[in-house]
Amino acid sequence: MEKFRRIGVLTSGGDAPGMNAAVRAIVRAALDKGVEVMGIYNGYQGMIDDDMKLLSQRDVSNIIARGGTVLYSARCDEFRYEEGMQKAIANCKKNMIDGVIVIGGDGTFRGGTDLSNRGLPTIGVPGSIDNDVTASDSSIGFDTAMNTVVQMVDRLRDTCESHARCDVVEVMGRTAGHIAVRAGIAVGASAVAINEIPFDEEACIQRLIAEKKNGKHSFIVMVAEGNGDFAEQLTKRIEARTGIETRFARLAHVQRGGSPTLEDRFLATRMGCKAVDLLLEGKSNMVVCQRGADIVAYDINYAQTADRMYKKKLTEEQIAALDPTVRKELEDFCKMRADSLEELYNMAYRVAR
Ligand code: F6P
Repeated sequence: MEKFRRIGVLTSGGDAPGMNAAVRAIVRAALDKGVEVMGIYNGYQGMIDDDMKLLSQRDVSNIIARGGTVLYSARCDEFRYEEGMQKAIANCKKNMIDGVIVIGGDGTFRGGTDLSNRGLPTIGVPGSIDNDVTASDSSIGFDTAMNTVVQMVDRLRDTCESHARCDVVEVMGRTAGHIAVRAGIAVGASAVAINEIPFDEEACIQRLIAEKKNGKHSFIVMVAEGNGDFAEQLTKRIEARTGIETRFARLAHVQRGGSPTLEDRFLATRMGCKAVDLLLEGKSNMVVCQRGADIVAYDINYAQTADRMYKKKLTEEQIAALDPTVRKELEDFCKMRADSLEELYNMAYRVAR
């Protein structure tokens, strides 16, 4: 295989704290091997617009602690079409980019596969507060977002306690309930509602009534976004049914900002270094994942299939067409993911009083 002289890096989709730490790690790890790194701005849009710049050691100094992404981010419709992809690839060739590392979520990885399939080696790094890259235990930004939620809700708790109120808090996750469940446990929420598991609203109401009778002064109900105005409507129903004054709080994009936690800086650095190593070993169309204590890599198509199976987006025909061994492996894996979420969900209820 030809020696890599220059690689590109971009951040795409929703930004996540720790993306900068990953960019820094990629630049430093590549330069350490004598490979230059081209920063591509605004995700895939920057590839199409030829908006790129060589990054030096100093360009990435002190960005490890910064939230957002210094490369900026965008969701790029033009890249979905062949013409856009061809423009992007032509610009990479013009800039002598031999391979690319793309940091983002599943949409970002679909783009990575498009590049790989057109001959440009690409490696994905999961960066998303939602933690919804099924193949990886964690994605960059998830830990920081949860910590932000905890800080915000602790503040809400203070005022709830003073006024004997309930706060229904809607947190991000797109359709995934990982932030809601874990942060819900960490703030001592009385109830948690996520899209993956049916919500027993009656049990929640009865519990709030019982807790109030039992002398509890403040209540937090944590709701994952992704179900229309469910959280707002639930707020009204809780107040009407329990008599507890209830407020609604949507934490929204505050969850995407801020300085990354140690956990996210560490994960980003490990994943960034692994991505560089994979590219330089001649690998392509792979996504870096955390599994237990290890940083591993999977074929993007495999990871995307796991993701779609977990999110119940595969049709019966698509499932039947899978190789039986792969199918069994993915089914077991998705079951393990679903079971561990359910275990946390049940634990949240067990300790909420
Ligand atoms: O994927 C990250 C995320 O923040 C989701 O949690 C949320 O649903 C979505 O992005 C919001 O997107 P936008 O920033 O385009 O409003």
